Amino acid sequence: MKGKPVIPPVYMTATYKFDHSDDLIDVVQNHSGYIYSRWDNPSVVEVEKALADLEGYDRAIGFGSGMAAITTAVMAHVKTGDRIVTTREIYGGTFELMDTILPGLGVDTTYVNCWKTDQILAEIDKGLTLLYLESPTNPLLRVVDVPTLAGAAHDKGAVVLLDATFASPINQHPVEWGVDAVIHSGTKYLGGHHDITTGFVCCNAPCADRIWQLRKVFGGVMDPMSAFLTHRGLQTLALRIEKHNENAMSIARFLERHPKITAVHYPGLASHPDHDIARARMSGFGGMLSFEVASDFDGTKAVMDRLKTIKLATSLGGVTSLANQPMTNTHAALSPEAREKAGVSESLVRLSVGIEAVQTIIDDLNQALDAI
Ligand SMILES: Cc1ncc(COP(=O)(O)O)c(C=O)c1O
Repeated sequence: MKGKPVIPPVYMTATYKFDHSDDLIDVVQNHSGYIYSRWDNPSVVEVEKALADLEGYDRAIGFGSGMAAITTAVMAHVKTGDRIVTTREIYGGTFELMDTILPGLGVDTTYVNCWKTDQILAEIDKGLTLLYLESPTNPLLRVVDVPTLAGAAHDKGAVVLLDATFASPINQHPVEWGVDAVIHSGTKYLGGHHDITTGFVCCNAPCADRIWQLRKVFGGVMDPMSAFLTHRGLQTLALRIEKHNENAMSIARFLERHPKITAVHYPGLASHPDHDIARARMSGFGGMLSFEVASDFDGTKAVMDRLKTIKLATSLGGVTSLANQPMTNTHAALSPEAREKAGVSESLVRLSVGIEAVQTIIDDLNQALDAI
């Protein structure tokens, strides 16, 4: 037949057939093709190659969620007796891994606030196996001085992992900072439409071989349809991020002037404590911001309940704007003291700014704030 599909098909297959036993043996022994989709699948390989190119690493390994990517990347680098240094502001699921699961395996984790660079350096100096970072952070958008910390960790022979989900591969370039492996929850900006759950680890050999092996054993592989949709998301990633960055900057400025808002947390604002680091390290300030409403918990909840264009939902990074009160979901499990330490007040709202016309989002916030 003449004419071939412009877009590669979705390879919805679990297994692969061979004309000769020798070919099957060659694939098993030399990795020269496909044998079983928990090992590899053409649709997954397609998106892995595209993301590896974008991040500047030899390989990307795709997972069924960001957490599958994180747990596999961490487990690939620690064993009993090892020590992890990380920041208090890491994603809740990652904290749960380090706080409740790794201690049972004899892996100890030290947590330091992400903005206390000197204190993190002091902990690194004591010796470590793994430095695990996340930047920018949730929900206060703190920007970590990754290159400084990565350099110190490497001097101690440690591996450096970075969860770069909030920035996407467009707004920062961790390969230039010497980060050994970059992690993304593809559920967020990479997919970009709130319709899939995926994750990635981007790195070079031998890290990539080890992570591939653990993915095969743990089984947290990405499914072909999600791989196809993430690959489609990547085609528009740069365009979307440009709009997310632009919209978030305008909304941050609007909120900063609003009489019913007491604080805005956005690294693009001069008032943000990490504005200078963000300017030096990032090529865009991102689509995430948070702000504090001049009211109590119930008043803030009333504002949330009036939102129309902006959807009241968890997650982030899609074309549709989403908002929530971190206190009621991402930080609900924390004690009041721990929440206070994390800077999560009862009037804090996290906003994932979408790519709608910016005035529509501003109008929605304006009318919602009439609730108080
Ligand atoms: C920064 C960050 N990392 C990792 C994850 C986990 O990703 P997933 O939900 O795809 O497992 C999330 C989810 O919200 C996140 O915000």
